[in-house]
Amino acid sequence: MARKKNGDTAPKPEPDDDPFVVSRRGFLKGVSGSAITAAVVPQVLVPAIGAAAMAAAPPDVKGVTSLKIDLDVNGQKRSLEVESRETLLEVLRDRLDLTGAKLVCDRGECGACTALVDGEPIYSCMMLAADAQGRKITTVEGLAQGDKLHPVQEAFLQYDGYQCGFCTPGQILSCVALVNHNPNPTLDDVKEAIAGNLCRCGTYTKIFEAALAAAKSSRGGK
Ligand code: FES
Ligand code: FES
Repeated sequence: MARKKNGDTAPKPEPDDDPFVVSRRGFLKGVSGSAITAAVVPQVLVPAIGAAAMAAAPPDVKGVTSLKIDLDVNGQKRSLEVESRETLLEVLRDRLDLTGAKLVCDRGECGACTALVDGEPIYSCMMLAADAQGRKITTVEGLAQGDKLHPVQEAFLQYDGYQCGFCTPGQILSCVALVNHNPNPTLDDVKEAIAGNLCRCGTYTKIFEAALAAAKSSRGGK
């Protein structure tokens, strides 16, 4: 209680008495109370929780962790044992040593990992290897016939359709799929065909020229 002075009509409340004022003493009381609660409660409960957890049987985890698969890659049957979580890209690169497909974004955005599955370009980082069974997989390594490059590969060389080359296998495979489906593509068709393949070097105009030239050559130069 504050001491009453002459002229005062009513005593001023101490900070602890005023519900809208937090005194340092009140604050410290609240904090120490919470701290004590936090410190004491776990010590009471943890032994009981720990004992219950130790008494419980370990969880019975079900699921396939590895499996045997057969893949048709570049016309060859490849039998492998893979982990069920492995992507087609991981199996191509790490187990079959087909490193033309690149791991860049690993999330279906860049197209560096492009492979053909049944003739269609796919992001191999987004496909489980087990799901590729029974499909025809083509990588850039499977395009040439011996020493003879595929017409799209020849055109990329002739028109300088690359700089660093990191996106190039994916670009080539997307262009191969285009030319196979549409031997007379327009420039817009080419742009659409490689829309899922990013080139950080910005070589797009050369890639367009190469794809159009490859299509022309596949039509016998007409
Ligand atoms: S690594 Fe597959 S889309 Fe980029
Ligand atoms: S040539 Fe370098 S990313 Fe395309």
